[in-house]
Amino acid sequence: MNRTLEDSTRLPAAPGPVGIFDSGYGGLTILSKIRGLLPEYDYIYLGDNARTPYGARSFEVVYEFTRQAVFKLFSMGCHLVILACNTASAKALRTIQMNDLPRWDARRRVLGVIRPTVECVGRITHTRHIGILATAGTIKSDSYLLEVHKLFPDIKVSGEACPMWVPLVENGEAGNDGADYFVRQYIDRLFAKDPQIDTVILGCTHYPLLLTKICRYMPQGVTVMTQGEWVAASLKDYLARHPEMDTRCTKGASCHYYTTEASEKFVESASIFLSRPLSAQRIEL
Ligand code: DGL
Repeated sequence: MNRTLEDSTRLPAAPGPVGIFDSGYGGLTILSKIRGLLPEYDYIYLGDNARTPYGARSFEVVYEFTRQAVFKLFSMGCHLVILACNTASAKALRTIQMNDLPRWDARRRVLGVIRPTVECVGRITHTRHIGILATAGTIKSDSYLLEVHKLFPDIKVSGEACPMWVPLVENGEAGNDGADYFVRQYIDRLFAKDPQIDTVILGCTHYPLLLTKICRYMPQGVTVMTQGEWVAASLKDYLARHPEMDTRCTKGASCHYYTTEASEKFVESASIFLSRPLSAQRIEL
């Protein structure tokens, strides 16, 4: 964690790709929706697979790891970075926006995934009782509760941490029978807290990779919200409202993948999640 390594005078001024960051593979669920809606842009995906999961880590550590990743993406030419990770959005986004961006380059931007998800929940719930399934870090931060109540003070929010779900995904166990026990357990706990919930936000970008099992154990009639579509729509809207940023995002329809783990390991798992072959490069943060 050496802050002196950051030399913002080296940040490239030329337009560059949009950066997408996650602690591991989860951000791929966001990336694929973004690329589906905005295929013309160039993208860099960065997964901190060597240090995942972030979910149980302290505020200081999540902030430091995320800050390093964002600076790396800026130094690779990005002007706009999406934290495709709820834990990083909950624990690091605000501090990076307030403390680091002004020092590095006030014209660069970092956006998260919590606000775009919350903005649409008011239109979806009828009972005005919603549930959040997320990492322990995201649940403890109360970020969803605070964001929901800013926009929809009448909605009752219940949260349940699902500490086993990210390790299941990162270890390639999402489709296996053993995963069912843990999927069911957290859903049952959430509905024991509030049986009137009619909408559940999957507040972790890894969770769509468990979607089939999650839907299997959800009570009937409950809407399960994944985030990719909402984040993609919100990014499209952001770029339309900020032409000065849009001109700093290159449009060559490319996507390059970087990981802090061994590239072979990333390629093997990411290819399954994206259902297509890809290549990746290992980098250090
Ligand atoms: N995919 C991330 C999230 O949305 C991170 C999970 C983790 O690293 O624990 O929270």
